[in-house]
Amino acid sequence: MEAAMKFWIGIALLGSGMLAGAPAGAEPAQQARQWCASCHGADGNGPGPAPRLAGQQAGYIAQQLQAFRLGQRVDGGAHAAALAALAREDEVKALAAYFAARRPARPKPAAGGDPALLAAGRKLYAEGNLAVGTPPCFSCHGDRGEGGSAAPGLAGQLPAYLARRMRVSDAPQPDAAMEMQEILKTMSADDIQALLAYLATL
Ligand code: HEC
Ligand code: HEC
Repeated sequence: MEAAMKFWIGIALLGSGMLAGAPAGAEPAQQARQWCASCHGADGNGPGPAPRLAGQQAGYIAQQLQAFRLGQRVDGGAHAAALAALAREDEVKALAAYFAARRPARPKPAAGGDPALLAAGRKLYAEGNLAVGTPPCFSCHGDRGEGGSAAPGLAGQLPAYLARRMRVSDAPQPDAAMEMQEILKTMSADDIQALLAYLATL
């Protein structure tokens, strides 16, 4: 075959590959730009309303994607196209590791804020309220909200998203989410307001 023809066939194949989506085995950064950036930002620090993923625990990201895939967590179809394209578990894991390694951009701390509310939130985070069965948040989410193998990071997360997630919900939930739901049921509306004020500072 003539060299020039080979060249154009090569370009055509490249083009069709790009139209069809990132080729199988593509770099996680490329997958992120193609499938996640429009809602979460390419570096996971999107402006919202979708939650931030930068610096989130990789295990948690992979687990939530699996929950969306299985319909155990409701997302209004937001992840359907991405998950159809990311069929392989190792691709999902690599993408989760990619977002976990991004540097989180902290939201600006809310100016002012009620110091008493903040103090109440800090206390609940560190000590819980054992009288009503609220465990200390740090025991699962870490001293500074960094998360761990058992629970997601909360630091740097968008306040409006945290507020939405700190509601008792009737939506279908995976087991890990039920654990958090049981904790939310022990708290008053004031407790939740105080915790949200404190979480916005982490
Ligand atoms: C069309 C918009 C959209 C796209 C594209 C999208 N997401 Fe999301 N994602 C959302 C929304 C909205 C939520 C919050 C769902 C909720 O309210 O519970 C979310 C939630 C998540 C969560 C749960 C975060 C948490 O803190 O609980 C993870 C993990 C996630 N997305 C990963 C991804 C990844 C990885 C991609 C790319 C493969 C992606 N998403 C593509 C909109 C999107
Ligand atoms: C026993 C461990 C445990 C404790 C204690 C705990 N959590 Fe959680 N929390 C979890 C787990 C596990 C999840 C993830 C649930 C899921 O998979 O959807 C979670 C999820 C969350 C989320 C949603 C995060 C996201 O990105 O969607 C928020 C907000 C939260 N917890 C706040 C708190 C606060 C505030 C406290 C203290 C009152 C607390 N948690 C105590 C285990 C815990």
